[in-house]
Amino acid sequence: MTPRERTAAARIDELREQLHYHNHRYHVLDAPEIADAEYDALFDELVQLEAQHPELASADSPTQRVGATPLDGFNSVTHAVAMLSLDKCTTFAELGDWVERCRGLLDEDDELSFVCEPKIDGVAVALVYEQGRLTLAATRGDGQTGEDITANVRTIGAVPLVLSPGAVAVPPRVEIRGEIYMPEADFQAFNERARQRGEKTLVNPRNGAAGSLRQLDPRLTASRPLTMYCYSIGWIEGDWQPTSHSEALAQLADWGMRVNPLSSAAPDLDECERYIEDVQQRREELGYDIDGVVVKVDSLAQQRRLGALTRTLRWAIAYKYPAEEATTRLLDVEFQVGRTGAITPVARLEPVFVGGVTVSNATLHNMDEVARLGIRVGDTVVLRRAGDVIPQITGVVAGKRPRRAAKVALPETCPACGSDITVAGEEAVARCTADARVCPAQRKEGLRHFASRLAMDVEGLGEALIEQLVEQDQVRTAADLYALERDELVALDRMGEKSADNLLAALEASKQTTLPRFIYALGIREVGEATAANLANHFGDLQALMEASVDQLEQVDDVGPIVASHVQEYFASEHNRRAVEELVAAGLRWPVRAASAGPKPLAGQTWVLTGTLESMTRDAAKAKLVALGAKVTSSVSKNTDRVVAGPGAGSKLTKAGELGVPVMDETELLALLDANPDQTPSS
Ligand code: IVH
Repeated sequence: MTPRERTAAARIDELREQLHYHNHRYHVLDAPEIADAEYDALFDELVQLEAQHPELASADSPTQRVGATPLDGFNSVTHAVAMLSLDKCTTFAELGDWVERCRGLLDEDDELSFVCEPKIDGVAVALVYEQGRLTLAATRGDGQTGEDITANVRTIGAVPLVLSPGAVAVPPRVEIRGEIYMPEADFQAFNERARQRGEKTLVNPRNGAAGSLRQLDPRLTASRPLTMYCYSIGWIEGDWQPTSHSEALAQLADWGMRVNPLSSAAPDLDECERYIEDVQQRREELGYDIDGVVVKVDSLAQQRRLGALTRTLRWAIAYKYPAEEATTRLLDVEFQVGRTGAITPVARLEPVFVGGVTVSNATLHNMDEVARLGIRVGDTVVLRRAGDVIPQITGVVAGKRPRRAAKVALPETCPACGSDITVAGEEAVARCTADARVCPAQRKEGLRHFASRLAMDVEGLGEALIEQLVEQDQVRTAADLYALERDELVALDRMGEKSADNLLAALEASKQTTLPRFIYALGIREVGEATAANLANHFGDLQALMEASVDQLEQVDDVGPIVASHVQEYFASEHNRRAVEELVAAGLRWPVRAASAGPKPLAGQTWVLTGTLESMTRDAAKAKLVALGAKVTSSVSKNTDRVVAGPGAGSKLTKAGELGVPVMDETELLALLDANPDQTPSS
């Protein structure tokens, strides 16, 4: 070797080591130390040096993650130790039975303890490392034989090409198992991009991961946002053998593998149950799909004694949460007319149990969404209901379309009143061209909104009742509600004397309200609770708001030209002005405050609320913060000024920690609100 080659070789070694290090910081520890551009500069330098010195090439170099040539097919791999599956349970009683079965198979005085881990919904893989180098990655297949997906797995940043020497020397050969998955945010971003380019979207993160690993061209896999958590050692050759599962996990992390930080020791059944409840509560905040928790016996000696049945292991069990996704059939698409005339396609579904409830309807939002899904009546669709989020149709199951499945078409006239429909400009939303005077659907929805909890909060004025009142023409505007007579109500279907009295009392009580609630209750387009509070704060009284010009309206926090013109148009209508006057005449009233009265100590600040609050709802806390001038958003970013975290806070709290955003708890929030008592308009 010439001296020049020697320096090139040294620099190449150094660069490879640095890139491995930074790759691990970024993909495994989620804690990068250098900017992407700096990483790219090191990477480019290495690419150049390797090109100048082909004799120094190495398959383990960070530049070699993506091979150049597509494969013809995947080779089969026989697993030295079968990749079995797990028994499932869905109740704590069944989990308890499993613990008892384990005890029964072990010696009486054996102490049992467990490790709990999220059960990630991805693709199981086995990675073989020889002398610390990744030599094989295989799918589970049927448990005995899988497919060789090494070239694809090498493209995943979270999978080390080389294990780092740790407290324990890397064994000569070891097989590491885990789950490859697509994080939720990356899945969304991927689909968003695909949509913009008119390309096919992924149905869910799991299919996304599976499909990405099944690409014959590793360059395609490399373009997909995949990552991996390791959850066990399949087998080891060498001197070191762990004695417990927790020890194995710690050692895997020490060698540079990505191990789920939520893996947690649980000394007894009670702890396992607590863990299962805790993870279920935080399910939506984890950032990846899980379908349950895996509970494992910690001691490897006990695991060996418990052994396996033909297909399943006895030393671990999957506690499954209710599925958040199910497939069902689309029976029909109906068009609903909303409060502002927006016409929304709604899917009527064969009832299906998903996310813990039975679902038979799901909104399809608008015709763009219908086109994006390519959905037809009769299709089998994928339905998702995560946490409290309303159910969404996320895809169509290919290959299950019946012959003669009907395309979904927008009706030519409003299904409620027969007026024309417009689809204005860029807006994907179709609208009825009539207003609430003509269109009964708009009237009903407007009344429903008026009576809703965050508006006038009229308890007992439900959908069925509004339906009757509008159908029989007893109520045309909100003010008519306050003129309803007891006899009239008692004569309605399913309305007893007691309910009639309760409703009249609720209507009477609702008259004493606040200006923000009143403005919100009017149902002006795009004026949600927060905007209503801003308008009320800015103008102080109704008259000033009714007379405001578009320019004046645009002075209000968070009011842009579109919202301003909706507000201006609303009050420009003679009909609307009269409706408002009638409400005031009916006795609706609110405390009067001067315009932009008190100071706005939180003006210009962005706040995020997460977790549960005990003394008030999040809606109420939000309104109070908005009244103090803060903007309240739902995700934490570097622009967030403060996070209020209650019990159960998860990823938002973690993110705040990472970004150094100050966090306060409910007690501190209450102290802040107490110090600013005049600023609570909507309580
Ligand atoms: S332990 C015998 N731990 O769930 C397999 N599995 O039927 C031992 N999974 O497809 C697996 N997260 O890929 C284990 N933390 C975890 C897991 C996990 C997801 C998957 C696994 C397999 C299925 C078990």
